[in-house]
Amino acid sequence: MTLHTHTQPDPALHADPALPGWQTRSAEAARAVLRCPALRVRPLAEPVPAALLGSEAGELFAHLVRMQDGAAHANLKAAIRQALDNFEHAALRERTRHVARQLPAPQTGDELTAYCYHLPSAVLADAFGLAPAHWPAIGQEVLAMLRCIAPGGLPAEIAAGARAASQLMQRIRQQLDHPGPLLQTLAQTLERSGLANTTTLLVANAVGLWFQACEGCAGLIGQSLLQAEQQQWQGQSRDWIRQALHVQAPIQNTRRFAAEPVNLLGCPVQAGDTLLITLAGHTADGPNDLAFGDGVHACCNRKHNFAAGWKHNLAGECCMGSLCLSGPFKSLDT
Ligand code: HEM
Repeated sequence: MTLHTHTQPDPALHADPALPGWQTRSAEAARAVLRCPALRVRPLAEPVPAALLGSEAGELFAHLVRMQDGAAHANLKAAIRQALDNFEHAALRERTRHVARQLPAPQTGDELTAYCYHLPSAVLADAFGLAPAHWPAIGQEVLAMLRCIAPGGLPAEIAAGARAASQLMQRIRQQLDHPGPLLQTLAQTLERSGLANTTTLLVANAVGLWFQACEGCAGLIGQSLLQAEQQQWQGQSRDWIRQALHVQAPIQNTRRFAAEPVNLLGCPVQAGDTLLITLAGHTADGPNDLAFGDGVHACCNRKHNFAAGWKHNLAGECCMGSLCLSGPFKSLDT
């Protein structure tokens, strides 16, 4: 890899000797990396993290839409998007409010953090057909899985996350005879996709939605609540959420891996190089539409986010549901 130093003209990609691989320095560079076909979501030599190999969590990981590339990814993603689109138009607002009302109201900072993570998990559990008695355990399991899948997990976190992933898969399998609306729609769109192993894909990606929704929504719910309180927001909560998203992208960065050498924005990226893409902090470049990624792996939940407001969108409804149910914001116009 060629290192750029500060004596050279500002490269779009930066290689810091203290960090492995390249880092993007602008929204434009981030978009170019996310759209580059020579880059993959996993290293070619390690499609599943070595620490998860041989476990059920490894099986799950191997079938996640987020962790695949190429034609298999495109077909799987189309089926998942279709299922989410169908589901998001059907009584989502009412169900989210219903779920939010059933969670214990947070009294302390730690409880508020837990609430931000548990609300999206519970909304999806409800949509999969799982009864409220299961939601607290599911919230914990999703959190354990997040820690296990995130890069750099400690051995104890990986072991706990692998157990949690198995439990979540088991919950989905048991629910297949009595699926809630989202699980049913997902089963149907996968069946129509022509892909093989649809039950395996269904179980893994239903659990994957828990992971993705929790990871993305928790930060945004927290930011929306915090900023609304600090700045005593009076307007429409959907505008406020859009503003919170602009100020602080909930997922700050993501990674890609070069499968072949490529000259990207004038930088000689070699096969095997890692690229760290910054999604947050591009506010000077205009509305931060990178908060939901870009290119073929962009978020499945982004459809209504910027164009048509947040109506009928799972992330938006979770945020609005939590805003309008929490003390000082009860009277907000949602
Ligand atoms: C504010 C909330 C959310 C944010 C900020 C967010 C952000 C993101 C980002 C940045 C990515 C791309 C990651 C990458 O390219 O490496 C992504 C992918 C994804 N998101 Fe979201 N997300 C949110 C909510 C959701 C929800 C509610 C769901 C589903 C219920 C969801 C499902 C997905 C899926 C399935 C992918 C993988 C798509 C693929 O790899 O093709 N997200 N999300």
